[in-house]
Amino acid sequence: MRALLVLAGLLLLAVALAPAALGGNGGFAPVPPESPNAARIHDTWIFVSIFIVAIFVLVEVLLATFIWRYRRQRRERFEDGPQIHGATNIELMWTVAPVIVLFLIGGFVFYKLPGIAEVPSASASGEERLEVRVTGRQYYWQYEYPNGAIAIDKLRAPAGIPVRLEVTAPDEDVIHSWWIPALGGKIDAIPGITNETWFQAERPGTYDGQCAELCGLEHANMLASVEVLPATEFAAWLEERDRERASIELGEEEWQGVCAKCHGLGGEGGIAPQISGSPVLTNPQELEEIVRNGRGEMPAVGSGWSEEQMDALIAYLRETPPSGS
Ligand code: CUA
Repeated sequence: MRALLVLAGLLLLAVALAPAALGGNGGFAPVPPESPNAARIHDTWIFVSIFIVAIFVLVEVLLATFIWRYRRQRRERFEDGPQIHGATNIELMWTVAPVIVLFLIGGFVFYKLPGIAEVPSASASGEERLEVRVTGRQYYWQYEYPNGAIAIDKLRAPAGIPVRLEVTAPDEDVIHSWWIPALGGKIDAIPGITNETWFQAERPGTYDGQCAELCGLEHANMLASVEVLPATEFAAWLEERDRERASIELGEEEWQGVCAKCHGLGGEGGIAPQISGSPVLTNPQELEEIVRNGRGEMPAVGSGWSEEQMDALIAYLRETPPSGS
């Protein structure tokens, strides 16, 4: 019998540890951290998980043991079992042990917290720091770089340099949440409030994330990604985007990020009406009017856009008018 209990215990342990062993696979464990703040969040997750798994195994094994050991056997159905009154040692143990566990977890979290929340200062790192303004809107992310360059949904960032993000939302919008799991925790984009977060990715690559606050019909499609580029490559991209403020490239980002989520990439409709072949798409004045101010059910997705930003969308649609399937 004892062997069976031990086996059951080991089985439970294996099940509980499997996600950690898989190392983020299967969606059970967090993605590997790629930024110091994300690494600290990951450490905290592992630290807390150790206690969770240990307590889970302890409780389940005891439960199984007690069910077996104190089963009714030949006792009368409604007869009470032997009564126990007081067990000072056990009572002390189940009081002191949780206090110690909570103290350890709390201490660990407070030890890790400053490194998660505080943006590394530019002087401390001895090099420059990039500042980007992140605006969450229904249903896209807009990034504004210090030189005024704009990007939609995909944030380019240099490797090895701290990137400070000012996260907000327009007054007339709703709450969104910026979240790139490999690069840190969630931070809310709240109308009228500016929150800050940061990351510093050493390895070039694309890190995916998504709006983490239910914000409406297309919340699930409000994806975000950060493309970390080698510093020189990033500088070249930023300069290019600054020089050509109304670029086709930005227009394409706007079409895909701002328009197509509701109208379909080919303008074929889905949430919003089909617009492929619509004369509005190639009529700059009317297009601008609708995008800036909305019409009917369509919100003013482009309110506050700069003239160049609008021109980028107009230029893209002139070059590549969407053709629905
Ligand atoms: Cu924006 Cu969910």
